[in-house]
Amino acid sequence: MKVLSVDHLLGIKYLKEEDIHLIFETADQFKEVINRPIKKVPSLRDITIANLFFENSTRTKLSFELAEKRLSADVINFSASQSSVKKGETLVDTVNNILSMKVDMVVMRHSSPGAGVFLSRHVDASIINAGDGAHEHPTQALLDCFSIRERLGDVAGKKVVIVGDILHSRVALSNIFALQLLGAEVKVCGPKTLIPKHIESLGIDVVLDLERALQWCDVANMLRVQNERMDISYFPSTREYTKQYGVSRKLLDSLDKEIVIMHPGPINRGVEITSDVADSEQAIILDQVENGVAVRMAVIYLLASKLKQ
Ligand code: CP
Repeated sequence: MKVLSVDHLLGIKYLKEEDIHLIFETADQFKEVINRPIKKVPSLRDITIANLFFENSTRTKLSFELAEKRLSADVINFSASQSSVKKGETLVDTVNNILSMKVDMVVMRHSSPGAGVFLSRHVDASIINAGDGAHEHPTQALLDCFSIRERLGDVAGKKVVIVGDILHSRVALSNIFALQLLGAEVKVCGPKTLIPKHIESLGIDVVLDLERALQWCDVANMLRVQNERMDISYFPSTREYTKQYGVSRKLLDSLDKEIVIMHPGPINRGVEITSDVADSEQAIILDQVENGVAVRMAVIYLLASKLKQ
């Protein structure tokens, strides 16, 4: 049986290209399973997984929980806002207390970049990073690339532009690493103030004009402006932002080709994307959500198989 080169999923930057192909081949099989009348397999009946969410989430939290249940794992959920973290307990103490209940795997979202790496060095369980601050969101990038592969047949050779608030986005960084590993060409587009200063050192071109970026690409991944991570103003007003960096039907119709539109969610309708685009055939936003369950099943299944070695 093929195995992953890693014991944890802490970031795409720790993966090899063959790891991603293995995750995709496994996810193909799980996608078939979740579309059957009986959507469950007994693979992980002996595994217990804790979902620790120190930051808000809708898609990622539900998608991981569903993936774990479809694999027949035992699941416990922890939300920081209702926990003893509020009484001053440290991350390592919190997790070690949870692990003493015989937990094998931890899925964690945390506001601090590197929280998953820190945890993997201090506790004896397999760790999956479900988003660490503005650093990485590896399963989002995997499901995004899986969705491009599904719609366009392959990721290699495709031109992908990531649009919007690149500076505060863990989705952008993980997507850049995953797309490059799989042989796609990547550019970013957004206001200069929301593009990290040294992004070119990752081999990424910056395009400031949205129409030019869309004319170049096969796929546009539209990101939300992450107001919750901003302590200053990065552009004059939301209206100005939308005018320059929002994708609309009129803008898409002005291109001489049809591109694929993606969004990791949550969407701010009318800001970075209009409703008629978000809800159109050109957008694969809900396919991304559906694929998230299969891809997360694959990641959990492959990491759990290493626990049993
Ligand atoms: N895409 C994503 O991470 O969404 P949530 O914040 O709702 O999990």
